[in-house]
Amino acid sequence: MDAGLEKVVAAETVLSDVQGAEGRLIIRGKDVDTLAREFTFEQAASHLWAGFFDATPELRTALGEARVKAFERMKQDFARLAPLPEVDALRAALSLAPDRHDVAAAIDLVATMAVATGAIAQMKAGRTPVAPDASTLHGTDLLRMIRGEAPSTEEARALDAYLVTISDHGLNASTFVARCVASTRAGLGSAVIAGLSALKGPLHGGAPGPVLDMLDGIGAADRAEGWIRNALDRGERLMGFGHRVYRTRDPRADVLKSVVNSLPTSSGRLALAQAIEGRILQKLAAEKPDRKLDTNVEYYTAILLEALGIPRGLFTCLFGCGRVTGWIAHVREQLGTGRLVRPASTYVGPMPADSVAA
Ligand code: ACO
Repeated sequence: MDAGLEKVVAAETVLSDVQGAEGRLIIRGKDVDTLAREFTFEQAASHLWAGFFDATPELRTALGEARVKAFERMKQDFARLAPLPEVDALRAALSLAPDRHDVAAAIDLVATMAVATGAIAQMKAGRTPVAPDASTLHGTDLLRMIRGEAPSTEEARALDAYLVTISDHGLNASTFVARCVASTRAGLGSAVIAGLSALKGPLHGGAPGPVLDMLDGIGAADRAEGWIRNALDRGERLMGFGHRVYRTRDPRADVLKSVVNSLPTSSGRLALAQAIEGRILQKLAAEKPDRKLDTNVEYYTAILLEALGIPRGLFTCLFGCGRVTGWIAHVREQLGTGRLVRPASTYVGPMPADSVAA
């Protein structure tokens, strides 16, 4: 029995290869750093979706139009979403989108994620949701809807690099769940909602908010030692460290760190984060010598999203806005197998009295 399924191969995929020993991530034939540097969000989505739909339209225009339609559709429901916690509000918004399998439904889901995330950000700040601008790039518009003002070119590029970096990552929990749902032939929307629900947990996509809570709790590098010791003594996990597959540094951490470096607003926090990271890695190496624990993607995600002025309650929604393209590609790939996912279990409960006697 393998409770974490780590030794189970449950899919063949052309989408991404997570090389845990080498610390390398290949997304459809491209190293993650190349993809993040060279591709816009739209180009990365087209790259992931190629061959999975009969025809994929020019995504910039199609996504822009879909954002406008999604905003119109959701308008009357914004007030009901406002009191919910961020990810729950996003999940509720997704349930209003079509639950079909065609490319228009896929584009609608990607658009809905962005529009709803922007609206949630505005409503949490006590403001009215900002309507989308169909003419801009998707990532630029997402940041504009979240903050209520147009981002600089560097900021827009930084968010795009983030969305591309986290677009796909093998058979992680949320992708696996999305593929399971797809295998039952439920719609794309159902699979995406399931993926988002899995992403919400703090061991998966819910970690970056708590990374900032941890940095706030530590406060200064010279207080790190005692803080870390106390946290480990309480049996806590240090957020942004460790990974099920990587036995070395998560390559996405360095992609995002260099993106933060390109932003003028992040320097103070980045310096503190780097100093604390060093102390944490030393401590984890000393405390868990048998298990190589290193920095994962969530550590520098937190620093990057904070530098972009995104509130920490929204971090998991942002992760969903990027990962949704990967979930959709995996759903299409899973449908291609035509096979219902249905693992076996070993029964260890009581037997009826008559079979025990026999
Ligand atoms: N802090 C402290 N100890 C840790 C951490 C951590 N971040 N990660 C693992 N450990 C410890 C475990 O407690 C365990 O100790 P033990 O053997 O004394 O019981 C040992 O290291 C081995 O743990 P693993 O089995 O290797 O961990 P697992 O593969 O189950 O967990 C996970 C991976 C969930 C990511 C874990 O490292 C963790 O909880 N990290 C913190 C949360 C986090 O950053 N999540 C984001 C991951 S990236 C992503 O999903 C996008």
